[in-house]
Amino acid sequence: MKPLLCILAAASLLAFGGDRKEKEFISDNFGYAQTQLKNMLKDTETRDALAFPRTTDKAGKMTTTNMYDWTPGFFPGSLWYAYEGTKDPQLLAEATKWTEKLEPLKDFTKHHDLGFMVYCSYGNAYRITGKQEYKDILIQSAKSLSTRFNPVTGSIKSWNAFKTWHGEQMYYFPVIIDNMMNLELLFFASKASGDNTFRDIAIKHAETAMKNQIRKDYSSYHVVCYDTTNGKVLARETAQGYADNSTWSRGQAWGIYGFTMVYRETKDKRFLKTAEGMADWFLNNKNLPADMVPYWDFNVQQTGYTPGVRSNATKVREKYRDASAAAIVASALFELSDYVGKTKGDKYREAGKKMLRSLAGPAYRADLGANGNFMIKHCVGSIPHNGEIDVPLVYADYYFLEALQRYQRTL
Ligand code: GLY
Repeated sequence: MKPLLCILAAASLLAFGGDRKEKEFISDNFGYAQTQLKNMLKDTETRDALAFPRTTDKAGKMTTTNMYDWTPGFFPGSLWYAYEGTKDPQLLAEATKWTEKLEPLKDFTKHHDLGFMVYCSYGNAYRITGKQEYKDILIQSAKSLSTRFNPVTGSIKSWNAFKTWHGEQMYYFPVIIDNMMNLELLFFASKASGDNTFRDIAIKHAETAMKNQIRKDYSSYHVVCYDTTNGKVLARETAQGYADNSTWSRGQAWGIYGFTMVYRETKDKRFLKTAEGMADWFLNNKNLPADMVPYWDFNVQQTGYTPGVRSNATKVREKYRDASAAAIVASALFELSDYVGKTKGDKYREAGKKMLRSLAGPAYRADLGANGNFMIKHCVGSIPHNGEIDVPLVYADYYFLEALQRYQRTL
């Protein structure tokens, strides 16, 4: 063989070998998820049928919530992803069963998280099965979520009330960066129903968030509180972050993922610029550890950042990691990498791979049967509320599996 042909043959063998290794990595992790989810399913048999996995207690046993908390969609969603990754019929049956328990949510209007609750469950169910009844439930859910939109604030109200960590002040139109994630349900509903009202609401919300929730350097405020009489911003604070002016890692993750998704649905470059800016801020941050799993807030214990007096963040000295934020960002980066040029796309894909490798390594991925049968360790729910500190969280597992699937599509 001529030298040039030899080099080309060796290069393609190397690339093929590299891909094979990556495919093995993905299928090993789906195999692991299959076993761990089946362990969890066994545990759920001993519980109330409407108890949805969330995290663990101090003894390391699984704890659950009812369906009206913000997280019930993630366990069925993980079952759907694991089914797609393994084609195991038991996982298909369980994904169906756990999704269909959530049907009453279609009329739920008490907080903004219906997107997470319904789109991660029924959205995946519809994507995979194409069942008409699932589509109807998703459209009805979008109608319910839309009732929380206020044209004066140009936003969907996240919670009905928010109490500052600084004292007793209450706000009655708080919007959190997490809310970007709930817009995916609205975009879906417009495509599925032909009614553009949902999409218009989603775009308005995203524009308002871009203006008021994202700082000039593309870091993010967690909570923005509005005056419903004139749409003015009353306060920019934090609920789950370290300080009002800090950047809560999972909030930044929701923003990267959310603006990437809004760009996918609109092709409006302003949203792409925001997604890229937020991703670059995250990836280039000097406080991001080498394994790319962030501390729970980028500004913990830094000069110039002070938690409110009532926040438990004043008492916690240990700088915990939040692996859930890494899982969300990894998934987002695999999508974002498709929307930017090659150089940046490669950078985002490499970062997503690195995060996945960390999460799937011994530091973050639990042994089979351990960690309350959740997959990912070392997440933080909310240090200010003194809740769910250094524990597994059901949404970390969901985005870990979604990231694996998105990575698989790139090979
Ligand atoms: N959406 C709530 C959270 O991220 O904790």
